[in-house]
Amino acid sequence: MSEHTETPGSEQPLEDRVNNRSQKPTSKAFKDFMASQWAPAPEQAPEPDAVAPYAARRRRALSERFAGERLVVPAGPLKVRSNDTDYRFRPHSAFAHLTGLGLDHEPEAVLVLEPTDPGAGDDGGNHEATLYFHPLAGRDSEEFYANARNGEFWIGARPTLAELDARLGIRTSDLNALEVAITKDAGAVEFGGLRIRLVRDVDLNCDALVDTSRINTGVDLEISDGLDGELAEALSELRLVKDAWEIEQMRLSVAATVNGFHEVVKVLPRAIAHDRGERVVEGAFFARAREEGNDLGYDTIAAAGNNATVLHWIRNTGAVVPGDLLLLDAGVEADSLYTADVTRTLPISGQFSDIQRKIYQAVLDAADAAFAVAKPGNRFRDLHKAAVEVLARRLDEWGLLPVSLEEALSEEGQHHRRWMPHGTSHHLGLDVHDCAQAKRDLYLDGVLEEGMVFTIEPGLYFKAEDLSVPEEYRGIGVRIEDDVLITAHGCESLSAALPRSPEEVESWMRGIYAAEGE
Ligand code: GLY
Ligand code: MN
Ligand code: MN
Repeated sequence: MSEHTETPGSEQPLEDRVNNRSQKPTSKAFKDFMASQWAPAPEQAPEPDAVAPYAARRRRALSERFAGERLVVPAGPLKVRSNDTDYRFRPHSAFAHLTGLGLDHEPEAVLVLEPTDPGAGDDGGNHEATLYFHPLAGRDSEEFYANARNGEFWIGARPTLAELDARLGIRTSDLNALEVAITKDAGAVEFGGLRIRLVRDVDLNCDALVDTSRINTGVDLEISDGLDGELAEALSELRLVKDAWEIEQMRLSVAATVNGFHEVVKVLPRAIAHDRGERVVEGAFFARAREEGNDLGYDTIAAAGNNATVLHWIRNTGAVVPGDLLLLDAGVEADSLYTADVTRTLPISGQFSDIQRKIYQAVLDAADAAFAVAKPGNRFRDLHKAAVEVLARRLDEWGLLPVSLEEALSEEGQHHRRWMPHGTSHHLGLDVHDCAQAKRDLYLDGVLEEGMVFTIEPGLYFKAEDLSVPEEYRGIGVRIEDDVLITAHGCESLSAALPRSPEEVESWMRGIYAAEGE
């Protein structure tokens, strides 16, 4: 009998019952044996990560903005998927950006930027950065073999303090020093206390630590909320322009995504033969995402036929039927956590029908109009205006607008948006919808700058149930989405390797089908 079954069932705390399925040896002989005869760990410190100097510059930029204040940026905890089974860990994007840590690193870690005298901090800045995390426990510890969430026997080796210090060039400290690090000397600024700013809603423990400290030292919680919000905003805005390392990562994620689209075309015959062909498509792309990257950047939209008119169709339970279109919106997230976000709409038979081609060409022309204004000096909002004007004109030519083109295009009209109700572009990076907390002045109304990366993704969606259009349009959804880098004088489509015009798409699909048939 194990120690756990000795307690009568009704008196055993519920949280302990997860252990009732197995027996754990507890003898001293077992513990001593488990702690012995393991080969020593390598002594050599790892090389610095290539991202380290870039992440240092990002921390330095943040330090400029918040001199004299303690900044707390959590990675977040593991998230439960079901009972005691967690999702694979993904750190919060602000944490990944400031540390350079990507896949799998580091649950419950917290980056603290501690204020120094002005200019006396890291790289001449106003702060010293320390990364607090739970380091790898030795093989002589019980954690090694008895802790399913952290133990090396269960989940593999995790970094030591020295390892992450060497890789990132950031001081490291055990998580058990975090509470003091966050709360010491904190308090109301007007009474000589130190101000804390926290990235909230990422780690409830950090929220509680900071809130308790604020309450205990008489800091106004509502005002602090606003100050925390400014930190989130600044972190979002820091990511509006990508550095050279980030752009390289985006190229990697787009290249893997292009490979994923090739795989999907290869499996289309199998998808057609399956009653849930959309899942075959989803699975083929996912295999590439896991082989070449960390994961998907977002759930794949594999939408055939009328499902293509559902903007975020991720149920993917439908059939893939020749004669219909398949809208595939998918992106691989690289190990660095930067993601692509690409859409192609493919004729399942390999050839567009006349009406499909007509709608596809309108969307393509709208995308090209947005590309034409994607250059430094223009505004982000110009992208959408250019794309939507093309679509409205085309809808007018087809006789679908219930009012004149002028009236539709006016603020009071906007009838064309019935068939294109989403935005044309969003910033892209660590988050698929990147920089989401940036001020409107810098986002929608912002001026395009070299190094920005965003999508151009117009679409037209005519639902099967849409009685406002002739029957031939119904059940057709088309979106074309590319990932765009603003360069010194214009832009570069990062996803240009993927066929885009109707003729390119048809010939690409023919080529793959022919190669597969050989
Ligand atoms: N895949 C979501 C989007 O295109 O924004
Ligand atoms: Mn998108
Ligand atoms: Mn997309």
